[in-house]
Amino acid sequence: MKIKLLENKIIHIINNSEEIKNKLHEICDLLKNEIAHYDWVGFYFRNGSKQELKLAQFSGKTTEHIIIPFGKGICGQVAVSNENFVVQDVTEQNNYLSCGIAVKSEIVIPIFKNGKNIGQIDIDSHQKNPFSKKDERFLEFVCEQVSNII
Ligand code: SME
Repeated sequence: MKIKLLENKIIHIINNSEEIKNKLHEICDLLKNEIAHYDWVGFYFRNGSKQELKLAQFSGKTTEHIIIPFGKGICGQVAVSNENFVVQDVTEQNNYLSCGIAVKSEIVIPIFKNGKNIGQIDIDSHQKNPFSKKDERFLEFVCEQVSNII
């Protein structure tokens, strides 16, 4: 599906009358179903005032990584760095929390609210080297939209 069409669908979900958690779930399902190299899509948010992330809505296999301490894994590193993290080959990362051998790559984009890093979108792929700048720009758009309803 074309990115523009997907962006319009995201806006539609953001503006629908569902509860926030339903909207986030719909976004996860949309991205996983419409983008071939997205095999797991989920949102993590800071767990209260703790130095850790907590898994919120997701689409794909259940994961053992419900709570991730800041600094741990790809997700925990983004909680600290405030920057996009694109890992085209997870075998090259030492600080990585595996969600199964099928996962070959991962992209994590932070979500900012009033300049503060409040969470992130996390995508796992079963392909090596699948992500481009287009994914980053598109996922930044998704994160901005989500920030508006948090
Ligand atoms: N691989 C992540 C853990 C979360 S799962 O991908 C769902 C990480 O290294 O932080």
